[in-house]
Amino acid sequence: MDLSNGESVSELIQAQADVLNHAMSFIKSMSLKCALELGIPDIIQSHGKPMTLSELAAALPLHPARGDHSVHRLMRVLVHTGIFALQKVDETGHDQEEGYVLTHASRLLLKDTSLSCRPFILGILDPDLTKPWHFMSTWFQNDDPAPFKTAHGRALYDYAGHEPRINLILNEAMASDSQLAIKAVISKCKGVFEGLQSLADVGGGTGTMAAAIAQEFPTLECIVFDLPHVVAHSQDRDNLKFLGGDMFEAVPPADAILLKWILHNWNDAECVKILKRCKEAITRNGKIGKVIIMDIIMGHDTGDKRSVETQLLCDMAMMVVVQGQERNEKEWAKIFSEAGFSHYKIYPKLGFRSLLEVYP
Ligand SMILES: C[S@@+](CC[C@H](N)C(=O)[O-])C[C@H]1O[C@@H](n2cnc3c(N)ncnc32)[C@H](O)[C@@H]1O
Repeated sequence: MDLSNGESVSELIQAQADVLNHAMSFIKSMSLKCALELGIPDIIQSHGKPMTLSELAAALPLHPARGDHSVHRLMRVLVHTGIFALQKVDETGHDQEEGYVLTHASRLLLKDTSLSCRPFILGILDPDLTKPWHFMSTWFQNDDPAPFKTAHGRALYDYAGHEPRINLILNEAMASDSQLAIKAVISKCKGVFEGLQSLADVGGGTGTMAAAIAQEFPTLECIVFDLPHVVAHSQDRDNLKFLGGDMFEAVPPADAILLKWILHNWNDAECVKILKRCKEAITRNGKIGKVIIMDIIMGHDTGDKRSVETQLLCDMAMMVVVQGQERNEKEWAKIFSEAGFSHYKIYPKLGFRSLLEVYP
């Protein structure tokens, strides 16, 4: 069969490169995972200056059968994708030898930094979380809520309740995301927490976000509310308390409810249910509070193409791993209104996510 549709050979060859590039993009993810598992960012960091290939290979826990050449090939793709960079070893420029250095991206991959994305990356690339992607086309032809269920027989949070390893991976992944998220929120929109006496972080995981808010606002009573197996080992301290429960049943009363990366996990009907429980919790004893949401707004100006692509990938992840979705402003407004809220405010963008305040 002649595939050509009038294109020139050069166009077809370029198209082939594009298709192969698309198909092999998972190799970027797996090379990154390998670098994290081998501890490469930390090894380069502790070297303190550009690290040559032979120095890096000597510092890695390599089998004698793996020579410098394999390390060079791994590092070459990670330099190409911007995870690492190359710099002249000799600052005077006399010696042309180059060594690996960290970039902004790989500084976020170090183990011992409070802002590390390492647990998040190792979490999403865990075999249990990548398996559902092989079941996407099967899911398109069955009535399971998400490919995760097709792959594992249970929905994600149910599965995590039965698999302590996955529960730990998910909690650590979310906690690592929260470290950077709260830094951004406090530096760009601290005012959202001012004047509050109480705050419940619903689906707050193991409390990283709430702990940082509690520390920043010592007179604010913070409650972390999550499934019982998630908060089981967390200890109350000062103005931070932990409570296990089901947000579809009830959420703890407070002046404000925080929902960070929660609603994108659920379909519209489930979001409306959660938001109704939140409305009950913030309207009591004649008080009217607010719901603070940190999530993606699709189509909201993020300022760069890479963030838009990150949003699109997050949306697919929500479809495959849970039965959720990322929403545009119109879709957000619809669920707010259906849950009985009258208006909302969007704070200036926080990278690929936004902060919204929703009022009854
Ligand atoms: C994507 S994580 C977000 C965690 C945290 N808000 C953050 O951003 O770091 C979703 C959280 O919702 C919790 N969750 C799921 N179903 C829940 C339910 N029915 N009631 C309360 N929490 C629930 C999960 O255990 C998980 O901690």
